[in-house]
Parts: sequence; C-alpha cells; structure tokens
Amino acid sequence: DWTMAGFRAEEIARIRAKVGPEGRVVCGLSGGVDSSVAAVLLHEAIGDRLTCIFVDHGLLRAGEADQVVATFRDRFNIKLVHRDARDLFLGQLSGVTDPEQKRKIIGRLFIEVFEEEQSILGGADFLAQGTLYPDVIESVSATGGPSVTIKSHHNVGGLPEHMRMGLVEPLRELFKDEVRVLGRELGLPEEIVGRHPFPGPGMAIRIPGEVTAERVAILQKADLIFLDEIRKAGLYDVIWQAFAVLLPVRTVGVMGDGRSYDFACALRAVTSTDGMTAEVYPFEMAFLTRTSGRIVNEVRGINRVTYDITSKPPGTIEWE
Ligand code: XMP
Repeated sequence: DWTMAGFRAEEIARIRAKVGPEGRVVCGLSGGVDSSVAAVLLHEAIGDRLTCIFVDHGLLRAGEADQVVATFRDRFNIKLVHRDARDLFLGQLSGVTDPEQKRKIIGRLFIEVFEEEQSILGGADFLAQGTLYPDVIESVSATGGPSVTIKSHHNVGGLPEHMRMGLVEPLRELFKDEVRVLGRELGLPEEIVGRHPFPGPGMAIRIPGEVTAERVAILQKADLIFLDEIRKAGLYDVIWQAFAVLLPVRTVGVMGDGRSYDFACALRAVTSTDGMTAEVYPFEMAFLTRTSGRIVNEVRGINRVTYDITSKPPGTIEWE
C-alpha cells in the first residue's frame, strides 16, 4: 500500500542515488509550502551538501522574508543564503504594465540573481525545485497541445542551458494536499505546512499596472488586514488562497469632512483542491463590511474595497 511515510523514505533514497555521495545541491527557497517541504526533504537526504538560496524580490507579504530566514537557518539549521534584491527587482519593473512582461522580468532576474549567488558558493551539481504535478501538466498542456499559454510560470522549466546542472524535483508526483501531508510527516511547523499558496512573482501580479515600492507597501497593509480577519474568523484553513489586489484605479470617497481620491482594492478568496479550478469563498456580509471598514480606515491610499466573486474557470485565481 502507498503511504506518505513510504514515499518519504523512497524519495530520500532516490535523491541520494541521483545526487551521489559527493554531489552538492542548491535549492531556491521562497518560504512557500512547496520549496519548504522540498528543502527539508533534501536536507534530510543529504544534510550540509544542500544550500538554499532565498532571493528576496521585495514582493512578498509583510514580514515573510524575516520569517523564512528565522525558520530555515535558525530553526532547521539549513545552510541558507539570503539575498536582498528588492531594489533590483523594483528598478527593473519600473514602467512595466504588461502582465506577461512582469512575469518574464521577474523570472529572468530571479535566475540571474540565483545564478550569481550559486556561483559565489562555488557552483553546485544539482538544482532542486519544488515543482508539483499540476505545474508539470499545466506547462505541458500549455506548450505541447493546441492550447495557448495562459500565464508563464516562472518555477517550471526556467533553467537556462548554460547552467548545466542536474535537476532534482522531489515533489514532481505530488498534488498540493499531498505535499502538506509530506511536510507534516517531516515535522514542519503547521504555520508553514498549512500556508496558502503564493505565486513566485508575488505581489507584482496582484498590482495590475505599474508596480512601485509605494504600491507594494499599500497592498501589503491591506493584505495583512484581510488575512488577520480571516484568521480571527477561523477561516484560514478552509480557504485555499486569500489575498488583496491593488487596483490601478482611483475613486472618490468621503473622509471626515473632506473628499478623498485614492486607490480601490479587491479582495480575493477561493476554495480549491489543486488550484486548477476554484470557487469563490462565500463570506458573510458582516465579515466583508468589517474587513472593508478596517482597510479603508487603516490603510492610507485605499478608500474603496470590492470582493471578487469570479470562479475559475473562467477567471484565474491571480489577477495577472
Ligand atoms: P491562476 O492564477 O493561474 O493560479 O489560477 C493558479 C495557482 O498558481 C499560482 N500561481 C503561481 N505560482 N508561480 C507560482 O509559483 C507563478 O508564476 C504563479 N502564477 C500563479 C496561483 O497563486 C494559484 O495558486
């Protein structure tokens, strides 16, 4: 019978066989469930021959960069390089509004910075990625069949040819819910294992139009309030993904005695089992009005909140 404990042991054996007794592996760590589980599994298989590289592109949720370092370096004793590349990413995104172009810039910069860091380390024999089964099939159907590419995922097939390294993808056969089971099996804390999925390009694809440091900061505040209310309502674990989107639209509002003219934001929360289809989460109106009230009152720069009620399909989960 197939069990996760069995899978874990087999996968560790497979990693060891592939990497060999001397091989060194680098792994990109994002703080998300997938790369976290991949990193801990690899660490168990090959110990200090694994180095994780965390590229901070400045597009994460508020506080998450510090959390990544605290968890993996301080708690799991995994070798970790933390590269602060926030200015580089924001600089290159300046003036860019096209969604695919944003993804391409972020994907390219991510690889450049990653490569730079791994060459500082003196190179490695293998690159590890937390690719999941749905990533594999979505990208195959996007390139192989008659269907078109809907969105380029920068975590699949992003390896440039001159980076001649073997590829280790220990989660390639798993769906997200199975990755979570494996993470628990490996002793990862619930706050990581149960974390909602977060896209590689981060908040850049949750800010339609131009991404600026100011807009990222505004969005981070609204997003934090939304997730705080979700946790307080005990809904975090029943929702697949929840986040705020900053709309590049200013609308008129009243603020005290005056008039405001600020951004609108959209809230998005869906249920799903694998991210390939999704249903809107049916919040109670009281939850939505409470959250909206907090965002408008506490976040300078936002004066209007909307709730996105689109399912996938025809919508996608992310806005870009
Ligand atoms: P969409 O928006 O296509 O998203 O319905 C489906 C799931 O994939 C995540 N997503 C990404 N994850 N890199 C990632 O690692 C990406 O470029 C990317 N784009 C979307 C999205 O958050 C959702 O869980």
